[in-house]
Amino acid sequence: MIDKNAKITEPKGKLGVLIPGLGAVSTTFIAGVQAILNGHTPPYGSLTQMGTIRLGKRTDNRTPMIKDFIPLARLEDLVFGAWDPIEDDAYESARKAGVLEEKDLLPLKKGLESIKPMKAVFDQKYVKRLNGTWVKKAASKMALAEQVMEDIASFKKRENADRLLMIWCASTEIFIKPQDVHSTIEKFEKGLAANDEAIPNSMVYAYAALKSGVPFFNGAPNLTVDIPALMDLARNNSVPVGGKDFKSGQTLMKTILAPGFKARMLGLNGWFSTNILGNRDGEVLDDPESFKTKEESKLSVLEYILQPKVYPELYKDFYHKVRINYYPPRGDNKESWDNIDIFGWMGYPMQIKVNFLCRDSILAAPIVLDLVLFGDLAQRAGMRGVQEWLSFYFKSPMTAPGLYPEHDIFIQLMKLKNTLRHLKGEELITHLGLEYYD
Ligand SMILES: NC(=O)c1ccc[n+]([C@@H]2O[C@H](COP(=O)([O-])OP(=O)(O)OC[C@H]3O[C@@H](n4cnc5c(N)ncnc54)[C@H](O)[C@@H]3O)[C@@H](O)[C@H]2O)c1
Repeated sequence: MIDKNAKITEPKGKLGVLIPGLGAVSTTFIAGVQAILNGHTPPYGSLTQMGTIRLGKRTDNRTPMIKDFIPLARLEDLVFGAWDPIEDDAYESARKAGVLEEKDLLPLKKGLESIKPMKAVFDQKYVKRLNGTWVKKAASKMALAEQVMEDIASFKKRENADRLLMIWCASTEIFIKPQDVHSTIEKFEKGLAANDEAIPNSMVYAYAALKSGVPFFNGAPNLTVDIPALMDLARNNSVPVGGKDFKSGQTLMKTILAPGFKARMLGLNGWFSTNILGNRDGEVLDDPESFKTKEESKLSVLEYILQPKVYPELYKDFYHKVRINYYPPRGDNKESWDNIDIFGWMGYPMQIKVNFLCRDSILAAPIVLDLVLFGDLAQRAGMRGVQEWLSFYFKSPMTAPGLYPEHDIFIQLMKLKNTLRHLKGEELITHLGLEYYD
């Protein structure tokens, strides 16, 4: 629940951003923040930095920047820490990821080199294609969580941070279904002590964050905090959480196009999506068990947007397929093809082809920034548990138990902006607009 009259505390001092996974997305995010601060680029792609929000009536002419409307941490006040089972510092890792060119990275070298990963909680069982050696050792998963809590506390002290937030930018783990050990915090803690197999690396970090009162957001499709035990812990400790899986490329396009087809009552026979990508993420996803986690996340979108049960004549039995193929020469510059078979008036078929030559991490980095700033805002506004208003940023948005997720990007954006208006006691915008014609 958001209390409309709750006071939002001001973002004073530094905000520590703690990142499991110092790979392509996170180094592109950190480098981008430094480049923006150095005046080398505007913050393209970031709603918190470039977006505006309309207040009141259309005739009021009140459209401030979001960052001037609601108190968000300043980019100057962000400090970064990370964990990774590969020992490369942020500069070396960014160079290997190959997202940013040397000319953009070199001016940032000193700052990036100073970000060295802490040893990771890493068991290869959960990410088969990754061989990490910079790894914590302990007798139990509980002891590993305690080590992460110590890392969190010493980072806060060292950086003199006022507040912290953790955001998972590490590899996609193998598919795990929710099970008994995830059902209550007591069972989960017993599972940590007994090294239960159903507790992967990511859950150890999430537990450590929530125990430390640190908000946790999940950029990958892993279950992680999307289990009753950790959602309860988040609520009990008054910590915001959110996930899963940054909505960056092909799925972004899906959630832009599908609401349009539905709005015009155009039917769908099939949607075939294929990708080639050659970064480390692509290599990890080449393992069928990690791909399964990603596939579930990518497939759910159309079902929820098109509502086949509500519109059986249009959307019953549409065929939906998603493939990801690891193709090293392409690096981070993913290419995706979508073939969409739709039908209209009198059942006549039509086709749409989308060929998106995107850059995965360039699309994901501003999502990380916005989630960091909005997640911290949520914490300062006393919002705890699942932050459904941030669904805009995710492929598989987390919701309260029993509630279906909202995938339509336009509804998600309206929900996000209305939440900001609500927090500031401004009137919500319904787009009714009858008063202009009275
Ligand atoms: N547009 C996008 O790039 C995009 C979109 C949605 C989701 N994601 C997800 O974001 C994540 C990061 O993507 P990326 O392209 O940066 O991948 P990447 O492979 O470049 O980086 C991931 C990093 O995580 C590290 N890692 C793995 N397990 C870890 C652990 N237990 N603890 C700490 N570090 C660990 C790896 O060593 C690697 O350096 C992936 O799960 C990916 O599926 C990315």
